[in-house]
Amino acid sequence: MANDEENVGNVKKLLARVFELSLQATVPDETDVEPIVTASTVGRFGDYQCNNAMGLFSKLKGKGGGQFRGPPAVGQAIMKNLPQTEMIESCSVAGPGFVNVVLSNKWMAKSILKMLLDGIDTWAPKLSIKRAVVDFSSPNIAKEMHVGHLRSTIIGDTIARMLEFSHVDVLRRNHVGDWGTQFGMLIEHLFEKFPNIEAVNETAIGDLQAFYKASKQRFDDDSEFKERAQKAVVRLQGGEKRYRDAWAQICAISRREFDSVYKRLKVELEEKGESFYNPFIPSVIEGLTNQGLVEESEGARVIFLEGFNIPLIVVKSDGGYNYASTDLTALWYRLNEEKAEWIIYVTDVGQQQHFEMVFKAAKIAGWLPTEANKYPRTSHVGFGLVLGEDGKRFRTRSTEVVRLVDLLDEAKSRSKAVLEERGMITWIYLLSTEKDKDWTKEEIDQTAEAVGYGAVKYADLKNNRLTNYTFNFDQMLSDKGNTAVYLLYAHARICSIIRKSGKDVEELKKTGVLSLEHQDERVLGLHLLRFSEIVEEACTNLLPNILCEYLYNLSENFSKFYSNCQVIGSAEETSRLLLCEATAMVMRKCFFLLGITPVYKI
Ligand code: ARG
Repeated sequence: MANDEENVGNVKKLLARVFELSLQATVPDETDVEPIVTASTVGRFGDYQCNNAMGLFSKLKGKGGGQFRGPPAVGQAIMKNLPQTEMIESCSVAGPGFVNVVLSNKWMAKSILKMLLDGIDTWAPKLSIKRAVVDFSSPNIAKEMHVGHLRSTIIGDTIARMLEFSHVDVLRRNHVGDWGTQFGMLIEHLFEKFPNIEAVNETAIGDLQAFYKASKQRFDDDSEFKERAQKAVVRLQGGEKRYRDAWAQICAISRREFDSVYKRLKVELEEKGESFYNPFIPSVIEGLTNQGLVEESEGARVIFLEGFNIPLIVVKSDGGYNYASTDLTALWYRLNEEKAEWIIYVTDVGQQQHFEMVFKAAKIAGWLPTEANKYPRTSHVGFGLVLGEDGKRFRTRSTEVVRLVDLLDEAKSRSKAVLEERGMITWIYLLSTEKDKDWTKEEIDQTAEAVGYGAVKYADLKNNRLTNYTFNFDQMLSDKGNTAVYLLYAHARICSIIRKSGKDVEELKKTGVLSLEHQDERVLGLHLLRFSEIVEEACTNLLPNILCEYLYNLSENFSKFYSNCQVIGSAEETSRLLLCEATAMVMRKCFFLLGITPVYKI
């Protein structure tokens, strides 16, 4: 049962609790009726509604009648049995028994003021799990870290942030591809080019991707080299020091490149690459074999799964392990060693089948419950392609690969150019009464970074992740429409209103009163109060775009309020400044959850 204290910020849950009591009084013999409360989309009849009446009526009828004539009568009874609460201003029953609720203005204002005093963390959703793994980014050593990995990094980080905000302990896992047969040829090529292996470093190797290509060329062209490379794999797997060292060196060079991307994006990850799970694979496969799940097929060892026309190969015909063996083992490790209750994988949709098969195998093995939505559980968070303006897979210029670092640097330099030139005229003139115009070099740099990287992240996150999205600098850096620039600007503008008032908001929070008399104040207040349930929805459905949409609507609601309600110099100044501050606080938390650094002046 929901604990009221635990859900102070979650209006939907608070109302569900009230309706739960009413349902208990209405149908005392029905013990398992969950209240169904939703936010009203139309808003004409109320702010929230309870939708239990119809289902309850058919249920009672199925049991041979009941005392109600129809769903509306059930709705009436639910309404009548609602306990007294200061949350609700009025109720009505509409259509087939929907119970509409109008929240009390007074209660809404009080709740917002309480958040202002106690902090936005009191509005964090409460989830039922303690620990989760988010497996994201996960590029491959010596190969290109491409825009797909960038998407995974951005989406995964946001999911991790939302879970962390909801008090879940998140293991942020970088499952890098650091194992496999390709290391044989890389190592042999390294030995060939650098007989004195100690002297090898990043600058000596230069571009690791070119190095990869060159070794592949050797592998394909020279059968003697190929043989050596194949032996090298065995020696590496056998743990021979010289080979392990060479491998570690190659990994370290790639890692530096990955880290420069993470540093720019301010994304934290803990690397536990494929190689980490290697020692555990044999016993995991043995366990599955003992359960009778593994079969011999064309020399390989496989698990046949209902509903799939190909089996899951867990040991290749040459006796080696593969992507699936590692993923099964990593899943086993995360469940048993790390005690994770929710394991989330963020990759392109192309890998969906692979994960479905791994999850299914884990269910058959009894590692996971078969019922959906029961914990421990696994989720694959798939996403679409990044497209260029030509509608094809994204590439920059004529080079084959997009260096992500270059891409991010370009985002920053473009936003800096805007700030330095156009910014002086268009963005800042709106704040022209302020002295903010004098920017230090650091301020411009920091703002350019926040805006530039924020724009890249937001452009990715605002779409439903399953759709492809087109990468377009001009669009994402525009200050109009649903962009990070527009939102960051909206936030900076609110901060500027508060600064201009000359009032100390911290003081106002303690002494002031907040009220929501004007229609546009109320709409804004209601939107603020929906923050918690929206984060919960975005988080549990693994859809960051829900949070983006909320943030965009918040800033639209604020604009409407600000154009219709005078703030500075009005009789309601204190209350309205508090509403400004609450909006800025919620916006900042949204930015934070999206991995975007807020700016306070633009
Ligand atoms: N390295 C893989 C790739 O680049 C992604 C790994 C995703 N995580 C996993 N546990 N399989 O496609």
